[in-house]
Amino acid sequence: MTDLTSQKQTALDAIAKADTLDALEAVRLDALGKKGWVSLALKTLGGMSPEERSEAAPAIQAVRAEIADALDAKKGELESAALEAQLAAETIDLTLPAPESAKGSVHPVSQVMDELAEIFADLGFAVATGPEIEDDWHNFTALNMDESHPARAMHDTFYFPDAAPDGGQMLLRTHTSPVQIRSLKDQGAPIRIIAPGRVYRSDSDATHTPMFHQVEGLVIDKDIHLGHLKWTLETFFKAFFEREDITLRLRPSYFPFTEPSVEVDVGYSNEGDRRVVGGNGDDEGHDWMELGGSGMVNRRVLEFAGVDPDEYQGFAFGLGIDRIAMLKYGMNDLRAFFDGDPRWLSHYGFAAVDQPALSAGVGARA
Ligand code: DAH
Repeated sequence: MTDLTSQKQTALDAIAKADTLDALEAVRLDALGKKGWVSLALKTLGGMSPEERSEAAPAIQAVRAEIADALDAKKGELESAALEAQLAAETIDLTLPAPESAKGSVHPVSQVMDELAEIFADLGFAVATGPEIEDDWHNFTALNMDESHPARAMHDTFYFPDAAPDGGQMLLRTHTSPVQIRSLKDQGAPIRIIAPGRVYRSDSDATHTPMFHQVEGLVIDKDIHLGHLKWTLETFFKAFFEREDITLRLRPSYFPFTEPSVEVDVGYSNEGDRRVVGGNGDDEGHDWMELGGSGMVNRRVLEFAGVDPDEYQGFAFGLGIDRIAMLKYGMNDLRAFFDGDPRWLSHYGFAAVDQPALSAGVGARA
């Protein structure tokens, strides 16, 4: 018994002194491990008389419990000390520079294309695409401009030197209108699409670049008339410019692929060196800016695209995306759009998180 008491005291002292979890574990093994002295003492109970055992057993169990409690308590102490030490070592230095902000931005043309798609999707339009390297038939002939048509000359077309396998001339599309033909041939009528994309003409000055962007629109169904066209354009421009006082002027014009044809102008005023849409272009201090062409799709075009013009008709439009981007976001030189100057891009570009959404008012930024 005295032996047990002194062994216990030695163990408790060792526990008190243990300064690592390993040291503590060594004490545990020595006392409570399978071959530890407490375990050995418990084994001696078997050889005892019942009287001896009833006295020795509680004593040994008490020693065991006392040591186990001391081990637990010390273990908790050592663990929380270790955590404290770790926390103290792992401080965050808030004086470090902030992480670099994202480089690059979304080009205003891309942003405006997303805005267009958002608005027209809400009006039930799907987005269609076509190739930028186009053939003569889709770009001209099927749009009612046969080889001798004078309107072809107005397009300043970039032709490829080699003809296509079927003998047709290949070119860079001069407008997005060939997507009308491709989409009708693919899907037939009824149809309601927009087709934004790049187009090319051999032309360059402050308001013309050899590559620019258009968005084509096409609605073919039964009983579609010019009133639908006017409503659609007005509704679009109000949503796009985020103001109600948009004045559109539809001017009689001529395009081979529409009949009747109109040109679409929007009223604007000059505010400093910025053009701001709104107001009547004929009033003092206002003017009209031409945004594109439109009209009722010519019967001949529907025939070329395999649609019966006695059953279906509709309207089409083609708008200059760069122009409406300039008007909305206040850029005044078209050439700067495509110079790739990082200063221009960081000034006029959009953050990738500025996703246009109708629910947020399509414009990404004031
Ligand atoms: N494709 C014409 C151009 O680039 C623009 C145009 C006019 C498109 C009238 C149309 C339209 O869809 O109906 O000059």
